[in-house]
Amino acid sequence: MAFILAVSGSAIGLGNIWKFPYITGQNGGGAFVIVYLCCVFLIGLPIMISEILIGRRGRRNPVTTMGLLGEEEGGHKYWQLVGVMGIFAGFIILSFYSVIAGWSLSYILRAASGAFTGGDATQIGGVFTAITGVWWRSAAWHTLFMLMTVLVVARGVQRGLEQAVRILMPALFLLLIVLLGYSAVSGQFAAGFDYMFRADFSALSGNSVLIALGHSFFTLSVGICAVMAYGAYLPQSTSITGTASTVVIADTVVSLVAGLVIFPIVFANGLAPDAGPGLIFRTLPLAFGNMPAGAFFGALFFILLSFAAWTSAIGLIEPAVAWAVERRGLTRATAAAVIGLFVWAFGFATVLSFNELAHVRFLRGTIFDNIDYLASNILLPLGGLLITIFAGWVICRNASADELDVGTGLLYRAWRFLTRYVAPVGVILIFLHAIGVFAP
Ligand code: PFF
Repeated sequence: MAFILAVSGSAIGLGNIWKFPYITGQNGGGAFVIVYLCCVFLIGLPIMISEILIGRRGRRNPVTTMGLLGEEEGGHKYWQLVGVMGIFAGFIILSFYSVIAGWSLSYILRAASGAFTGGDATQIGGVFTAITGVWWRSAAWHTLFMLMTVLVVARGVQRGLEQAVRILMPALFLLLIVLLGYSAVSGQFAAGFDYMFRADFSALSGNSVLIALGHSFFTLSVGICAVMAYGAYLPQSTSITGTASTVVIADTVVSLVAGLVIFPIVFANGLAPDAGPGLIFRTLPLAFGNMPAGAFFGALFFILLSFAAWTSAIGLIEPAVAWAVERRGLTRATAAAVIGLFVWAFGFATVLSFNELAHVRFLRGTIFDNIDYLASNILLPLGGLLITIFAGWVICRNASADELDVGTGLLYRAWRFLTRYVAPVGVILIFLHAIGVFAP
């Protein structure tokens, strides 16, 4: 149970509630959602199982585990580079994750003070730009969020967080259901539903498919060796397949509900689905501003969202801290402080992408868009690819069957088939499709 809570705490976060709706909006809805769901179940789930399996077999930090198992299984100790890449990806992701989480923190006070009450789209959009468009405000909230993360990691009080996850995650989910009720009654629910599930594949570019794949990794926290790090603590008797399936289903349901809350509000208020990273901050306050006890529900929602972001942020920085403690001999507090300081400084690239440097655009868009693209759509799928190859081809059949402990029947064969063929071939094809190899 503690393991399910820890991994769900890491998986469910801004990715589900902030990122999924906005990238769905930018990539045209329905077809994107279907590709995302296929990626989650055919590629993300087998990789999550592989990561837990590797973590439990190695029982060390991801870098050491990959190196040791690599050698033991007749491969190479250079497999440890996969762990190093995961640490690097976590570093980059946390740098922007913390900025967005900071926005969520700032919305707690705005909601509680009634800033959204009776508001319309223009007024609520103004609140968003007042925070994100002023660099020092955004930076101040980013700083607060990083401090909160570093403090918990430095003191190693993850236990207490697990207890909190047990109560606060279901609370977040319940509140999403309340919002779903609001959207169903006051929003254009049919239009929102249609947008999310009516698939027009002709509009889907190779790049959108890569974004869907990247997001399936991002939302499940896989491809980065974070789940592997947790797997090291999993008791031998716990079912890996059962645990991974539970987390994947919970994560997916939260994302779909978040989408179904947001798009009906978007359409009812004449907003654009492709508004970008500000989407939830421009839509949900409209619901809070116009529902009974909205100031209370609004503040509560952003408290819970910030909490979900916090438990994910800890998962992002923990591998780096564990590595610095085990390999470099730093104390936990020093490691957390030093790594946190670097992440914080790098976060300014994201802070400034929404104000002073908003005009700087190249490759994928703003500086933030490029940082996100590099981490989510390149590093995570690459990490995931190497992890499936490792679990499917390097680790011998006996070892993986022994660790999964589901016999060698259909379930085992399905996992092995997905891990050896479907996941790696899928990731490679999607990469090739995105760089235009299959373009006519
Ligand atoms: N899965 C988290 C989310 O959806 O918000 C983000 C994340 C956390 C990714 C931890 C990777 C990770 F190791």
